[in-house]
Amino acid sequence: MSSITINGRPASLPDDGDAFLIDVLRDDLGLTGTKLVCGSGVCGACTVLLDGVPVASCLMPTQAAVGRSVTTVEGIGESELHPVQKAFMAHDGLQCGFCTPGFIVEATAFHERWRAANGTATPSREEIGAALSGHLCRCGAYDGIFRAVADACAGRFDGKEVRAARMEALAKVTGAARYTVDIRHDGQLEGVILRANIAHGKIAELDLAPARAVPGVAAVASLLSQDRMVRYVGTPIAAVAATSRKAALKAIGAIRVVSEAMPAAIGLDAARKPDAPTVFDKTNRKQAGNVAEGAGGPAPWKGNVRGPTAVFSQQARKAKGWIERARKTRDPLLVESTFRVGTQSHACLEPHAAVARFDGDRLTVHVSTQSVHDVGEAIAKRYKLSPGKVRVIANHVGGGFGSKGGLGVETIVAIELARAAKAPVRVAFDRHEELSVTGYRPAAELELALLASPQGRLKALSLTAYADTGAATNSTIAALARMIYPADAKQLADFDVVSNLPPGAPFRGPGGPPMAFALEQAVDEAAHRLKLDPIALRKRWDPDPNRQRLYDWAAELDVWRERTPAAAQNGRYRRGVGVATGYWLYLWQPGSRIELAVKGGRIVASSAVQDIGTGTRTVIASTVAREFGVEPDDIEVRIGESSLPEGPGSGGSRVTASLVPPTLAAVTKLKAAIVKNASRSPPQGSNAPWRDMIAASPDLVVSAERAKDAKPSDPRIRSPFKEVGIMGTIFGLVLRWFSNIVVGAGVPSSVQVVEVEVDTWLGHVRVLSVHTGLAIGKVVAPDLAHSQAAGAVIQGVGYALYETREIDPLSGHVLSASMEDYRIPGIADTPRIAVHFDEAGFEHVAGGSVGIGEVATVPTSPAIANAIYNAIGVRLTEIPFRPDRLAAALRRTAA
Ligand code: FES
Ligand code: FES
Repeated sequence: MSSITINGRPASLPDDGDAFLIDVLRDDLGLTGTKLVCGSGVCGACTVLLDGVPVASCLMPTQAAVGRSVTTVEGIGESELHPVQKAFMAHDGLQCGFCTPGFIVEATAFHERWRAANGTATPSREEIGAALSGHLCRCGAYDGIFRAVADACAGRFDGKEVRAARMEALAKVTGAARYTVDIRHDGQLEGVILRANIAHGKIAELDLAPARAVPGVAAVASLLSQDRMVRYVGTPIAAVAATSRKAALKAIGAIRVVSEAMPAAIGLDAARKPDAPTVFDKTNRKQAGNVAEGAGGPAPWKGNVRGPTAVFSQQARKAKGWIERARKTRDPLLVESTFRVGTQSHACLEPHAAVARFDGDRLTVHVSTQSVHDVGEAIAKRYKLSPGKVRVIANHVGGGFGSKGGLGVETIVAIELARAAKAPVRVAFDRHEELSVTGYRPAAELELALLASPQGRLKALSLTAYADTGAATNSTIAALARMIYPADAKQLADFDVVSNLPPGAPFRGPGGPPMAFALEQAVDEAAHRLKLDPIALRKRWDPDPNRQRLYDWAAELDVWRERTPAAAQNGRYRRGVGVATGYWLYLWQPGSRIELAVKGGRIVASSAVQDIGTGTRTVIASTVAREFGVEPDDIEVRIGESSLPEGPGSGGSRVTASLVPPTLAAVTKLKAAIVKNASRSPPQGSNAPWRDMIAASPDLVVSAERAKDAKPSDPRIRSPFKEVGIMGTIFGLVLRWFSNIVVGAGVPSSVQVVEVEVDTWLGHVRVLSVHTGLAIGKVVAPDLAHSQAAGAVIQGVGYALYETREIDPLSGHVLSASMEDYRIPGIADTPRIAVHFDEAGFEHVAGGSVGIGEVATVPTSPAIANAIYNAIGVRLTEIPFRPDRLAAALRRTAA
């Protein structure tokens, strides 16, 4: 045993020459505030101080730390919070919080250096960006982090008590927040999955015996499907539980696999070829994964192409005829193009993970999930357990973005292995798995034709989307264009192109960003051809009242009014300003319940909902506190447990819309119960007395369920079939996605105005500023809503500029399966973001609030594209806008 000082106290190190410092901190010393994400020095989540200097503990051999002093996030502000921690809490420099410990450690070191050199001067954005550029945050909490670090360095949090913007902020800035990957039971085993190495074929032989012989192995299981087929690289084949990850890896390496490879269809173009090998045939199509969140409807198949999966046709023949005629006559008002979008990986910083433990016939599963309630039900059903004997827990979730919606393979494997080994088992995906087999927003090819009349009317819109869904189906992109820009004639159709790649999954506003990328550029182009202001044209073509108000707001922005056309610019760097519109559906989940209780003189709110970084606790506490005239901190919120009253899933931006109305109803009931049980009458005329009455109240419990809205949903939503025939519409499809979801009246909307700088020599694009206007009803927790809006923009910037999955077209291996190769935005890529909330439009919803998470990311990529057009006069039709693509487009224009 060697010695080391950890957080000021001597500690002993194990004699494992191979161990990295992070493993010792987390596994041997239980200091789980230090997080493992990339494991390769890219993301900064594992940062600790070594003799006061930040280092990546995932790359630091433990032996190199012998005799030195290590400070982890737990050691920072142990006796008193550090100003940086307070500033993060006050400025909401965090969402899911998984990256937060790394940022805190690095930022405190920067703070010390800065103060020593500069006193209480305020560092610039560039200085903060440079200091924290080794850290990644997938939620995009950078906007708050900039403000927090600047203010902490400037001394604005020295010795000051703070009020946290979100309830769990203290736990997240101190490393105390426990995520699924941090759970450690006595005798817990590590589960690891063996995955297929071929894209298509059959597993002829699987010999698990050699794995069982490896020391430390407690359970081995086959994961083969009945037909033993492999349809993508990474298909689960077998799993092992062992006393350490090292032993489990050794064991899966020992498993003998004989596979029979078959020709594979890899990617959109290869899978569409008439002679492409078919991935599924009639007998096994049900095995296809699902890029949506529920079962899809029937659709025809032709080879690997399935569709149309969603179609909207209104005067389709007319649309076709008008567009064909315009093509023949070279009508300048026909905008026609093929757009391409890349595959976007969720890249959650907390990997998919589950820890399963049986106590007799009771099963407890910690899961990194977007729905504790649904996963609890699914487990009970699959394993034929009574629901009361299954507990699903997710205290904190390090991001999900749509990829953690259902009962995942990590959970099934953890349960199977725990049952076989008769011991608790943790399965946590490594980064390669996370970036290759946990789903993605499918790449797509979109064929668009938009025809305006000479009088400036929208005559016809045709949009056909082919989505690169991998071994999955149910994409909806084109059909989303139904609810915006009514035209004289429309023809919208979606196709899945199924291939031997891992299955896609829902991702934040699933088909919204690809649809908007194509449609919003086409509308922009139409405005140029009609010589109209792009906002004015949208205002003319788009009657939605929420968006009408946003157009008025956007048209008045200085950055919009003062933009310079491309023709008036020269020189290496050009600036441009673009606008784009987005919408998403207002969804809520029937059956969502909240329980309010007075316990020991304090209000306790409970629901089986979870917080994936969106601030669920704070939304509930703020709603209750406002009604009682107390502070959110006065309310105790219990979530993240399937045994609590049924709560909604964190998908479809539905948590706020599902929980605020029953919370308000429960408040009314609780007030009545408190008054009824009070020994004296409530004092009149002020809210303040509630505090005393709650404190004096006996214990009480009430609950309420989400009731219907005062106004039913849009008639087009309720009876879509009248207008469009029997193939259904996006809404029919959405209702199938979310089988337990109601689509409400009104359309959450966003309009974004983006300013970019284009380097015409190197093809780089920098997003300088984003004004994001959101019509999402009443804002419950303004700081957190701001964080959501800014984070959504940052994900949109990543989608437009950097993110894409790269595949080896021959083998089907994902090549971008590390954080080095899959590039997400860093803090220095973050533009200045101004958020405008328009709070009208949802008065028919109790509380007036709907979701923000998805709508806020829809228009970013087309707004950037339109800004680039404004800067250089070149329309880019493929994202990400890589420098080589932009430079090539410039060369083509110059030629
Ligand atoms: Fe160490 Fe990412 S986990 S840098
Ligand atoms: Fe940074 Fe979620 S808050 S990854």
